[in-house]
Amino acid sequence: SAAEKDGYDWFMRKEIFEQPRAVADTLLGRHDENGALQLDEIRISEEELREVDKIIVIASGTSFYAGMVAKYAIEHWTRIACEVELASEFRYRDPILTRSTLVVAISQSGETADTLMAIRHAREQRAKVLAICNTNGSTIPRESDAVIYTHAGPEIGVASTKGFTTQLVACYLLGLYLAQVRGTRYGDEIAQVVDQIQHVPDKIQQVLDRAEEIYGLARRLADSRSVLFLGRHVGYPVALEGALKLKELAYIHAEGFAAGELKHGPIALVEDQLPVFCVVPPRGRDFLHDKMISGIQEVRARGARTIVLAEEGDAVVEPYADVLIRLPRVPTLLQPLLSVIPLQLFALELAAHKGLDVDQPRNLAKSVTVE
Ligand code: G6P
Repeated sequence: SAAEKDGYDWFMRKEIFEQPRAVADTLLGRHDENGALQLDEIRISEEELREVDKIIVIASGTSFYAGMVAKYAIEHWTRIACEVELASEFRYRDPILTRSTLVVAISQSGETADTLMAIRHAREQRAKVLAICNTNGSTIPRESDAVIYTHAGPEIGVASTKGFTTQLVACYLLGLYLAQVRGTRYGDEIAQVVDQIQHVPDKIQQVLDRAEEIYGLARRLADSRSVLFLGRHVGYPVALEGALKLKELAYIHAEGFAAGELKHGPIALVEDQLPVFCVVPPRGRDFLHDKMISGIQEVRARGARTIVLAEEGDAVVEPYADVLIRLPRVPTLLQPLLSVIPLQLFALELAAHKGLDVDQPRNLAKSVTVE
């Protein structure tokens, strides 16, 4: 009913707009006033966490893309090697697991069969399993050694939105906590990142305040037969997530690519008027930004219509953007919390405009309890 949806037409729209709150709630009570992390709930001792020599993140669907972002953050902060693997593939490749492997299972529902089977396999091999989950008492956290709950509240729309952004927050907290326990980062650096995450809910709100622009774009592009999404670094999983949302909700062919891979194949797909979303990383010392710009130039030279997501104040991108979507400034690793929002709004509005069932797309289930 409309009441359950707080006056929104779709649960998904409501859930997208709940993200500032969901992200803030997921941070709540997990650090002290000095920014030191307190994850007592983890139930794996600090000593055991210091012995971890490899992390494997496993998940399915949208949660897998959160896991891809986690890999960048965890390796950067902790210097522990971190792999990320689709839950449905994990146990079939005979993965190397030992007592000092930490397996991180990310699942909004806590009931996805592929992910559950993967953690069972990991525990049989004596690995420690930590779940990141949004559903209290669900099967995956019950069968794990430890859990970090996301506090998104119930997610009804089949396509995950606030589930994803809160998973990102939980992954950042885990990475920072491991860095704190293992001493790979100084306390003030950790506190600084915690502070930056605390400002994210307001910044998500700023992106949401401009939803109408995205809705207009979605309606203009409603007849597209194919849409591409490009990103680099943590913008790459965001590109994959943007493409997944469009497939799931609007039944439009969509692909996400790492922008550096364009020249190795995908550039052949670009034809006149093809819409291409480009997630541009913040300007930094690492040339990522410049490399992304050259990727945008390449697709534009072949007739693509570029929809560029870039931080405020980034003037370099302007000549290459047919449509420019501004994002508030955050460090590169945190940018997915903002850059995914316009992609969620785009897929939602396009599907709604086509008269499709946004909350229950065809052939999909909220949680897939068969392998
Ligand atoms: C299903 C849903 C997806 C979700 C995936 C993983 O396929 O349709 O939206 O991302 O399951 O779900 P989980 O609950 O494990 O995060």
